[in-house]
Amino acid sequence: MLKWDEKIYGVGIPELDSQHKKIFQLINDMVNHFQKGEKDEALSQAAVELARYGAEHFSYEEKILETIGFPYLESHKKLHADGKKKIREYLLKLKIGKEISYYEVLAFLQEWVEKHIGRDDARYAEFYKSIKKKNKQKASV
Ligand SMILES: [Fe+2]
Ligand SMILES: [Fe+2]
Repeated sequence: MLKWDEKIYGVGIPELDSQHKKIFQLINDMVNHFQKGEKDEALSQAAVELARYGAEHFSYEEKILETIGFPYLESHKKLHADGKKKIREYLLKLKIGKEISYYEVLAFLQEWVEKHIGRDDARYAEFYKSIKKKNKQKASV
């Protein structure tokens, strides 16, 4: 289960924070289905929804990063592309019944999302904070 902690995961941009919270919730929904033994319909539907929403979030976030002038946009885009590819691979393996368990997939998803938001997204959060501060200083001169 993923637990939201504003100090670790908050990026200070409200739309992105609420999208991240929704991603946490979608993964937790999957974990819940899994724990209840609902392994087919419900779980695969939740997985599809997560993949769809995740992709939407990535491109939305990239647009915001472009707008605020985040200097590491290209490498952040690459992290998203790699993540998207891996997530798709895992979900596809499940779908075609390759040797992978839901347990492994859920562990992967939780770890990836925790790391990405807590560490990689935290980098643009820092940047955003610093430009906001600068702008405030400018305004007060
Ligand atoms: Fe994000
Ligand atoms: Fe990101």
